[in-house]
Amino acid sequence: MDYLRILGEQKIGGSITISGAKNSALPILAASLLFKELEIDNLPDVADVKTLLRLLEYLGCDIQQESIGNVKIRAERIVHTKATYDIVRKMRASILVLGPLLARFGRCEVSLPGGCAIGARPVDLHIKAMEKMGAEIVIENGYIVASAPKGLKGAHISFDKITVTGTENLLMAAALASGETIINNAAKEPEVVQLCELLVSAGIEIEGIGSDTLKVRGSGGEVLKSCHIKVIPDRIEAGTYLCAGAIANAKVTLSNVNASHLQAILDKLEEIGFGIEILENSLSILPAKKRQAFELITTEYPGFPTDMQAQFMALATQCEGMSVIEERLFENRFMHVSEMQRLGAYISLKGKVAQIRGGEVLRGADVMATDLRASSALILSALVAKGFTQIHRIYHLDRGYEKIEQKLKAIGVEVQRLKE
Ligand code: UD1
Repeated sequence: MDYLRILGEQKIGGSITISGAKNSALPILAASLLFKELEIDNLPDVADVKTLLRLLEYLGCDIQQESIGNVKIRAERIVHTKATYDIVRKMRASILVLGPLLARFGRCEVSLPGGCAIGARPVDLHIKAMEKMGAEIVIENGYIVASAPKGLKGAHISFDKITVTGTENLLMAAALASGETIINNAAKEPEVVQLCELLVSAGIEIEGIGSDTLKVRGSGGEVLKSCHIKVIPDRIEAGTYLCAGAIANAKVTLSNVNASHLQAILDKLEEIGFGIEILENSLSILPAKKRQAFELITTEYPGFPTDMQAQFMALATQCEGMSVIEERLFENRFMHVSEMQRLGAYISLKGKVAQIRGGEVLRGADVMATDLRASSALILSALVAKGFTQIHRIYHLDRGYEKIEQKLKAIGVEVQRLKE
């Protein structure tokens, strides 16, 4: 297993190019099952994308990879409609094939994802939505076994809770269903918007894109015409590197970013005291004279993203005063707290609220990554810790950050990838 060794207190500064968004690439890859041919550009070279490509290949898709970031996928000769446990357990987002497989082939089996480090994460809302569209679903031997031999029918679905992949699954199912589907309490994340735009480019009518009510007129089972799409920049990767600048109180510039997707993050950085410079093709964080403690609550987009909570907790250790972070989306997304405490952070945790005392001196130690974003919070902490920090189990990190050492080195981080 690989681990990262980082020397803290080095001079940070420089530029980084942001990769395509993992969370947009995944639903787009799953959507390829609805198309004659789909060409995708700006795919990030991360483990989760490779896992989904492997699943599509296993299902029978013909995949031509022109370069690392470009693939052409043809889903004409599907031989399986089963997403097996060994793949789904590696990546929960494999649930995204449920809607497209069911809509196009009238049946599928998808392993139940089960729990994960950040909480229970059920998929009941995905299942209920498919049932409302006429699918028959049973749970057998740990699998969601779904069938809709006569195809899916448009329906009116109100999600009890806002769910990103649930909305995406339903959108893909609705695109090939017969009639109109209305989705209430839909997720509004930029990744959901990009999926809508892809479907629209294939001729599907969608009203309300970017709002919480989506109306989709399905193709009635007709496969979607060939299309081409470029994945949007990764707002969470961008936010993480902005935090690298923030924790070191240094200028870091990002290119290939969409600042409008980062509004909640930028607002919070400004509130803490940083300057933000937005130019046509780049975005920079500028050092703060004083870094104020802050309060934040994670909510659905356009609110503050849960995927940036751990990184801001690392930043809070360097601010003046007591910061308060409330995690509203995932009940167990504080696994990084005990690891940050090993580095000397003072954090008290009560239920879903963490209080972080700023101004603590962090000292390098061996720490364990527990999930994707927790891993990046440990890297950020290591940048300001005294001496070396070894971050173990970085396979979590490789799921979602492309060329992480290369990008860290580009802003002056002394980092090595080593074998256990
Ligand atoms: C997606 C993102 C993930 C991000 C999360 C929240 C992808 C691949 N992943 O995950 O990075 O942290 O959104 O922004 O895009 N829920 C249910 N039943 C369901 C579905 C969800 O109770 O059927 C609950 C979840 O447990 C959670 C909340 O709804 O408490 C939101 O989860 P959801 O938006 O579905 O997260 P994901 O789509 O899995």
